[in-house]
Amino acid sequence: MTEAGSKSVKLNNGVSIPSLGFGTFAGEIVPGEMYAAIIAALDAGYRHLDSAWFYKIESEVGRALKDWLDANPKYKREDIFITTKVWPHLMEPEDVKWSLETSLRDMGIDYVDAFLFHWPFAVEKTEEREVKKDKDGKYILNHERTSNLLPAWRAMESLQTSGKAKTIGVSNFTVAHLTNLLSSATIKPAINQIEIHPYFPNTALVDFCLANDVMPVAYSPLGSQNTKTDRSVLADPVLQEMAREKRCEVAQICIAWGLKRGYVVIPKSGNPARVRKNFEVVELSEEEIEKVGGVAKTLGNGDVGKRYVNPVGLFGFDIWAFWEKS
Ligand code: A2P
Repeated sequence: MTEAGSKSVKLNNGVSIPSLGFGTFAGEIVPGEMYAAIIAALDAGYRHLDSAWFYKIESEVGRALKDWLDANPKYKREDIFITTKVWPHLMEPEDVKWSLETSLRDMGIDYVDAFLFHWPFAVEKTEEREVKKDKDGKYILNHERTSNLLPAWRAMESLQTSGKAKTIGVSNFTVAHLTNLLSSATIKPAINQIEIHPYFPNTALVDFCLANDVMPVAYSPLGSQNTKTDRSVLADPVLQEMAREKRCEVAQICIAWGLKRGYVVIPKSGNPARVRKNFEVVELSEEEIEKVGGVAKTLGNGDVGKRYVNPVGLFGFDIWAFWEKS
């Protein structure tokens, strides 16, 4: 085992980001469980928490952060890298700012280390700044705003200039979205948070990001276990065999593989023992990295593999299919 879990990498604006972060999306976790998981994560050595407006968990993140810092006075707020994100119904410039203010208030902090667009599209909102849905419960796409995200990005830039966000970035951006944003941004996005795991290596997008100095941050690096699927990354026979040989867990192999590929990885777990285990980074040889990178091919879809995160049920439309057509 190495101490790689506590390593950091530099973003394009000079800010350091711990390579191994802790995801706080608590979809499948009972209220309160995330509080204990965050305390366990900070105790284990994680110094990077990833949250979002959408997770509805930011008060719990803030409470855990405050309690942990109070109990560990040698650490300060500046020692923890905190990310949050703005949801697509808040993509008007004034709403982008409101979203960050709300997240800061809920977390009880006065700046975030990274503030991201959660998705590259905009939807309608209600007067109460909640997502507006049609009679079938579907999100309503705001086509005009979706086709021009620049005003929202300008609001992000002003948040970085004001110091309320040390870094700004995006999530779920494709090569086309990034190309567009990079050509018009005054402050370039420093991060693109995207799905990456052995069944979805996302290689073309990862390569594009790295070539353009945008740090990929891998969400669902274990293959998102709460998704109903016939094949699970953690049950992959090749990875299981490797884990047996190395006397470690498949989850640790997934994490080490991501770190070795040169990006930031943010696994999540509500279970304190697994939270700790995931921070123990194992070493992978070049041959093992290649072997892990090859398992996606066994799914029968070439190098592409299988994307798990596609919130069709939530949005009411398949956003990935929409982009492929547009
Ligand atoms: P749990 O919260 O019960 O630990 P991802 O980060 O890819 O979205 O995956 C998160 C899922 O993976 C959660 O369901 C989590 O369940 C599970 N998980 C996290 N760490 C491990 C591990 N070391 N072994 C097995 N499952 C894990």
